Amino acid sequence: MVYQGSKNRIAKYIVPIIQKYIDDNNIETYIEPFVGGANIIDKIQCKNKIGADINDELIALLKYVQKNPTIPIAPKICSKEHYMDVRENRKAGGGKYSKEYTALIGYCASFGGKYYNGGFGQVRTGKRNIYYERVINLRKQAISLKNISFMSCDYNYFKDVKNCLLYLDPPYKGTSNYAKSCMNYDHFYKFCHDIAQNNFVIISEYDMPSEEFKCIWQKERTVCQDANRTNGQKATEKLFIPNL
Ligand SMILES: C[S@@+](CC[C@H](N)C(=O)[O-])C[C@H]1O[C@@H](n2cnc3c(N)ncnc32)[C@H](O)[C@@H]1O
Repeated sequence: MVYQGSKNRIAKYIVPIIQKYIDDNNIETYIEPFVGGANIIDKIQCKNKIGADINDELIALLKYVQKNPTIPIAPKICSKEHYMDVRENRKAGGGKYSKEYTALIGYCASFGGKYYNGGFGQVRTGKRNIYYERVINLRKQAISLKNISFMSCDYNYFKDVKNCLLYLDPPYKGTSNYAKSCMNYDHFYKFCHDIAQNNFVIISEYDMPSEEFKCIWQKERTVCQDANRTNGQKATEKLFIPNL
């Protein structure tokens, strides 16, 4: 699914790394506590897969798509007026539209999948209906969401799990905020160390404290993260594991 901070473009590099840890260590449960657009978990093979996120509207949409892969609630066209109406209703506490519908419009019709933070994604190129192209892409993704348990919670919910692999892709420190986000990074680093005592832990970030974490992979890529919608900025994606 289109998503701010999506790992879809680097999935071909990082999924094989995560998958090798799962296969080599006979891991039966894979957990992604910051699942976002489910762009990594949908490509992982594991007996049990859990995808969680603090954004309950996002989780409602992912569960809806699992059950309704043709996404019958999606209109063919989303005008700016309709987008603003859904956004205003959400700001006022909701009620007029379901959580899954609010999320569908928020992700598919916002600029860059930025979920109401980036404004309406204008269709700039001739006859393209970018909103609906995103709906079609989500329909294509639906089949690979089938065997995932989705839940809405804070990442701390997983503090006591054992014998799992956790792939953690938090909001990167110092980058744009998400609709619902609550990160204390010192607490997050401690959480990673604590759970690594009984699990395999792999983290996506630009930087982690070097004495406590080891970088196991990195690659430069072009990103568009800032509020000015500037294209072409370079950033180095990295994977880290805790130093035990
Ligand atoms: C970088 S995105 C994940 C992108 C995802 N890997 C993908 O490829 O689409 C980070 C996610 O963390 C979620 N999040 C932020 N704070 C959280 C928290 N305290 N607990 C759980 N999820 C949180 C956000 O809602 C967002 O979906």
